[in-house]
Amino acid sequence: MSDPVSLPTIRPRRARRSAAMRNLTAETHVHPSQLILPVFVRDGIDEPTPISSLPGVVQHTLSSLVHEAERVREAGLGGIMLFGVPRDGDKDEVGSPAWASDGILNRGLAAVRQAVGEDTVVMADTCLDEFTSHGHCGVVTDEGIVDNDATLPLYARMAVSQARAGAHVVAPSGMMDGQVRVIRDALDAEGFTDVAIMAYSAKYASGFFGPFREAVGCSLTGDRKTYQQDPRNRREGVREALLDIDESADFVMVKPAGYYLDVLREVADVSAVPVAAYQVSGEYAMVEAAAARGWIDRERVIDESVTSIVRAGADQVLTYWALEVAGRL
Ligand code: PBG
Repeated sequence: MSDPVSLPTIRPRRARRSAAMRNLTAETHVHPSQLILPVFVRDGIDEPTPISSLPGVVQHTLSSLVHEAERVREAGLGGIMLFGVPRDGDKDEVGSPAWASDGILNRGLAAVRQAVGEDTVVMADTCLDEFTSHGHCGVVTDEGIVDNDATLPLYARMAVSQARAGAHVVAPSGMMDGQVRVIRDALDAEGFTDVAIMAYSAKYASGFFGPFREAVGCSLTGDRKTYQQDPRNRREGVREALLDIDESADFVMVKPAGYYLDVLREVADVSAVPVAAYQVSGEYAMVEAAAARGWIDRERVIDESVTSIVRAGADQVLTYWALEVAGRL
């Protein structure tokens, strides 16, 4: 026997000795009700269309979208977040298909709401980039600047049209200053006091959005660095979240998720409202690509990535793997 004094008495490994003990002592539990599936609905297609940079994700027709919404409801997911893809010819300088009652996003919202009723929270992306001919999230001046204050009334109009179509939650993602406030005022003025706002608060100008731009057929050339945040800034992300809470956001969001866990943790520490995180297209694509080469254990990495986002402080996670992860829980 070796000298007992030299042996540890504090042994964290005791909590790891069996699966039962690990489950008993686990600090983080992911539940389907906190997962939100982002989906794309595209105008003018007859068949669901694959997105090459997001293997396993498609652009839906209205009918395949409804089918997907049924799956979301059956899986007990917390919500479904809709993005619209208009026909190229319908895009214009201001993004008017965004608020048209017969625009693809509003038709998709109406169909999904009809299908899921109150069983699943129906959410709408409230942003113009999918609908503008230049691909920016707002209107652009003759000098090529994205005009914050001229964009706000368009967001208000879009949000009201989404509430009318049946959205329970509108999610402004354009990073215009004051967007939450004008949307709240417009919803209230139209009697939609029950429609909640999930604010993309700390949204970074990120290379990880790359595959999404293909998914929505975005026309952007250039970048969004004058409105989305600089990836070097952490404190500023907290400030953006606090401003949105002041403007009456019902949720704040950090995006991307996996590379911004520090921001997520700090926002979660100070937020008075639930904190969502968006595991974005590039985070998804990297894992799928490495897994396709046999370089990583796909399911294990997916579950670990989502768990890490919850561990860091997310109350809700938007992820393209929401149905798959829920199926394993
Ligand atoms: C803008 C928007 C974007 C994403 C969600 N909303 C793209 C952007 O800001 O360029 C990215 C989502 C993802 O990458 O999965 N409406």
